[in-house]
Amino acid sequence: AQTPVKVTVTGAAGQIGYALLFRIASGQLLGADVPVTLSLLEVPQAVKAAEGTAMELDDCAFPLLRGIEIADDPNVAFDGANVALLVGAMPRKAGMERGDLLEANGGIFGPQGKAINDHAADDIRVLVVGNPANTNALIAQQHAPDVPAERFTAMTRLDHNRALSQLAAKLGVPVTEIKKMTIWGNHSATQYPDLFHTEIGGKIAAEQVDESWLRDTFIPTVAKRGAAIIDARGASSAASAANAAIDHVHDWVNGTEWTSAAIVSDGSYGVPEGLISSFPVASRGGRWEIIQGLEIDAFSRERIDASVRELEEERDAVRKLGLI
Ligand code: NAI
Repeated sequence: AQTPVKVTVTGAAGQIGYALLFRIASGQLLGADVPVTLSLLEVPQAVKAAEGTAMELDDCAFPLLRGIEIADDPNVAFDGANVALLVGAMPRKAGMERGDLLEANGGIFGPQGKAINDHAADDIRVLVVGNPANTNALIAQQHAPDVPAERFTAMTRLDHNRALSQLAAKLGVPVTEIKKMTIWGNHSATQYPDLFHTEIGGKIAAEQVDESWLRDTFIPTVAKRGAAIIDARGASSAASAANAAIDHVHDWVNGTEWTSAAIVSDGSYGVPEGLISSFPVASRGGRWEIIQGLEIDAFSRERIDASVRELEEERDAVRKLGLI
């Protein structure tokens, strides 16, 4: 029998965790023939709630689910992990400065990175969902010197999927008709959804919409969608975030010709080496590759640079705080 893949989920008792765990256990993360064990990491006060979720997972009798562990210690939760979904994070509270937010998250993602370094399986793949996702991923990666840097990624797939859906609605086409969508930069309001390489029926998307729609409607709608969901739902996006996490890992493991993911920069497209920034990527043989050779016009350059500048500022701030 095939050895189960161990998937560790942090923040397992949270909203995204609740939307995510059942889909992993049903085979949507890795494939319908891959058995999994789940490892749930929570803070001590939420372990009981995680136990409740585990009871429900049991009650689904998922054929692929071979075991569930619950821990409040990252050294235990990441032991032997093949996939780590880092969802739990410190949310920004009213009046919190960026430095405070980065510091609180450094206290989470530093130790988790070290625990991954010391205990995870050799093929560990990490996706950071918890915000600020790119910089949290950088902090974890910097605490895991023995793990190849490319195994640490952050999620911009939700932004990618939002961009697909907005464009599909605008043009009245199914999302499946849209190819080569790209999100650049930080998973934040500065992110840049790029339609200059996106194709519908072989034609460039940017040429099929008004420039004013692209600039004044599309880009801000995608970038601010998270806030719009909070406003409407009274809670932040959870099922769509879980869905994007599933898409990201599924494509990483099984391959794709083109999507968006925040991965460690090799200096491509002028993004400083080492930053974890969103790029157009393909996945082959279980590895992300940045799609090369795209021409970047002045409109895009300005927006990519602004988002990358924000990532550099976040990196400099966590350096100054001694978090990396
Ligand atoms: P939530 O507040 O419902 O759940 C977070 C859970 O994390 C809580 O159960 C909490 O106890 C747990 N947690 C906190 N610190 C932890 C630690 N050190 N170890 C283990 N668990 C810990 O939040 P929700 O809605 O599930 O969102 C989680 C994160 O995902 C937030 O940071 C949110 O901003 C982010 N997010 C990211 C998106 C993206 O596109 N990258 C999209 C949507 C949300």
